[in-house]
Amino acid sequence: MTDPNVTRYHPALVALHWIMALGIFMLLVVGGPMLAKLASNDPMKITGMQGHMAIGMIVGLLLALRLALKLLTRTPPHADAGHKALNSGAKLAHIGLYVLMAGMVGSGIAMAFAADLFAIAYGGADLPVPEDMTAYTPRVAHGVIGKLLLALILAHLAGVLYHMVLRRDRLLRRMWFGKRTV
Ligand code: HEM
Ligand code: HEM
Repeated sequence: MTDPNVTRYHPALVALHWIMALGIFMLLVVGGPMLAKLASNDPMKITGMQGHMAIGMIVGLLLALRLALKLLTRTPPHADAGHKALNSGAKLAHIGLYVLMAGMVGSGIAMAFAADLFAIAYGGADLPVPEDMTAYTPRVAHGVIGKLLLALILAHLAGVLYHMVLRRDRLLRRMWFGKRTV
């Protein structure tokens, strides 16, 4: 809950924000697209899936932990962007980030169940990796939600820049460690 005497997020929320941002960057921009490009019979495909699926599920657990901690800790009042519409937009964007991150984890797990990827990646099953994963609806959803998430992250970065450069309100401090009360 918000508290007018608090100026920063709880250090655990701060640490989780940055660990998750790094994890999402690796999955969304680096590993995911590389993995999708590999042919199903490429020996690196299964190794790549093992890493991507594990990190994806860890990000899912951290997401649940972060949401729980957010409800249990005192958070600073909403940052003021100087406009009603921008303030509502920021709130919506934050909810959207949570929803789309959860959507990526959920669609990834659904794809793994649909295409037997847990057995292939971790169970040592001697099954071929499906040639065209897009035959599975969750795979298509994983691709679409990924594009939406990337777009929203870019908007998030634009919002942070707007605060830092135009409003010069030191927004980044709210998501960093230090004294929390005024
Ligand atoms: C994968 C990338 C990222 C994701 C998924 C992400 C997600 C989020 C979410 C969901 C929030 C809302 C926090 C809450 O109320 O619980 C948030 C806040 C914030 N993020 Fe990010 N973030 C990312 C990258 C970044 C980067 C690169 C920066 C800095 C340039 C940044 C700076 C901030 C700041 C300053 C806040 C606090 C905003 C406020 O207090 O209103 N984020 N982020
Ligand atoms: C926040 C978490 C995740 C992010 C950001 C993410 C991101 C991505 C991206 C960007 C791609 C490439 C999509 C494309 O090019 O169309 C991809 C592919 C893939 N993801 Fe994820 N992913 C996440 C979680 C998961 C999870 C939890 C699983 C499974 C347990 C998973 C399994 C896969 C697989 C198997 C592919 C390759 C599909 C193919 O070869 O066609 N992902 N992911």
